Amino acid sequence: MRETKGILWVFATLLGVTLLASFAWAGSDEGKALYEQKCKACHSIGGDAGKMAHLGGKLDGVGARRDAAWLKAYLADPKSKVPEAKMPKVSLAEQQLDDLVAYVLTLK
Ligand code: HEC
Repeated sequence: MRETKGILWVFATLLGVTLLASFAWAGSDEGKALYEQKCKACHSIGGDAGKMAHLGGKLDGVGARRDAAWLKAYLADPKSKVPEAKMPKVSLAEQQLDDLVAYVLTLK
């Protein structure tokens, strides 16, 4: 009985570590891929601009100006943070929002 418990415990710990590691690792990479798909058209990063980058402009340095909570609320609904925002609401799942925020926060 004791041994079974021990094995279960080791298993649970390993699972936890794996989940945590993949979570921390996935975030900004996933976010970058999402940015390329859903955001790049209106923005530029490091001179790499989308077709309509004149609309949203550069995102360079935005990770130093804004924090995670602000960005998450803004991306979910720009008008909630900036009433006159012209950026449209982009439909994103909770996980996608977190990934994008993780990526945008790397832009310092
Ligand atoms: C249709 C064009 C468009 C798309 C698509 C778009 N944006 Fe924007 N974005 C804008 C505009 C315009 C602004 C300038 C401020 C405003 O009017 O909202 C902006 C501003 C921003 C800001 C700066 C906010 C601030 O004031 O610090 C961030 C960060 C941002 N966008 C991230 C994103 C991300 C991430 C996506 C993809 C989910 C995205 N944008 C998609 C047009 C767009």
